Amino acid sequence: MSKQIIDPIPYYPSYVKPNPKLTLEQYQLIQTSWNLIKEGRCQPFKVQEVISNPVGFWGLLLYETLFEMDPKLKPLFQNKLRQVEMLTEIVDSALGLLPSMLDQTLGQEQTGLDPEMIPMLLDLAERHVSYQVKAEHYGTVGMAVITALKRSLGNSFDEPTKAAWVEFWSLICSVMIPAHVKKAQEMGVEI
Ligand code: HEM
Repeated sequence: MSKQIIDPIPYYPSYVKPNPKLTLEQYQLIQTSWNLIKEGRCQPFKVQEVISNPVGFWGLLLYETLFEMDPKLKPLFQNKLRQVEMLTEIVDSALGLLPSMLDQTLGQEQTGLDPEMIPMLLDLAERHVSYQVKAEHYGTVGMAVITALKRSLGNSFDEPTKAAWVEFWSLICSVMIPAHVKKAQEMGVEI
C-alpha cells in the first residue's frame, strides 16, 4: 500500500516565502558580506587574538549563536570536523550559487539555485535525516546564520543584505525541506 504524500510547505520556516528568488544585486550583497567575514575585516574578529582563521572564528560564533537559540541541538553535533565542513559548505554554496548568471545573463533579473547544486542539496537533506535533524531545525539554523552575520558585521549587515541572506536561505529550504520530509516519511521517523 503506497503512503500518502505529505505536503512539505507547512514545514517551511515562517519567514520563507513561497517562491524565493535572488536578484543579481542580492547575490552581490551575499558575496560582499561574506568576503568581509572571510578576510577578517569585522570588529569581533579584529579585537581578539586567540583564533587566527577568520572563517573558523565565525564558525564558532555561528555554533554559539545556534546553541543559545536552541540548546537541545547541541547533542546532535558530535564530530567537530563535520561541523567545520558544514559551515564552509553552507557559505560555499552561496558563492557558487549563480555562476551561469554572472557569466552570461546580464539581462536576466531574477534567478534560483544553480541546477547543478540541486542533486547535492537533495542528498545532503536526506543524510541530515539520519543526523536526527528535524524540518523545524532549518528555521533555527537559518536564523542563527543571519544573527551570527549581524553580530560579526554590525552596521555593514544592513536590511538589504539581511533580506538577501533570508532569500538565499529560503532557496535552500525550498529544495532541502521537501527532500527531508519525503526521506523522513520513507524512514518512518518524526519529520
Ligand atoms: C544549507 C544547509 C546545510 C548544509 C549545507 C549543511 C552541511 C552539512 C555538511 C557538509 C555536513 C557534514 C556531513 C555530510 O556531508 O553529510 C553536515 C553535518 C551535520 N549537519 Fe548540516 N547542513 C545544513 C543544514 C543543517 C541543519 C538545518 C541542521 C540542523 C540542526 C544541521 C545539522 C547537522 C548535523 C547534526 C550534522 C552532523 C554533525 C556531526 O556528526 O557531528 N545541518 N551538515
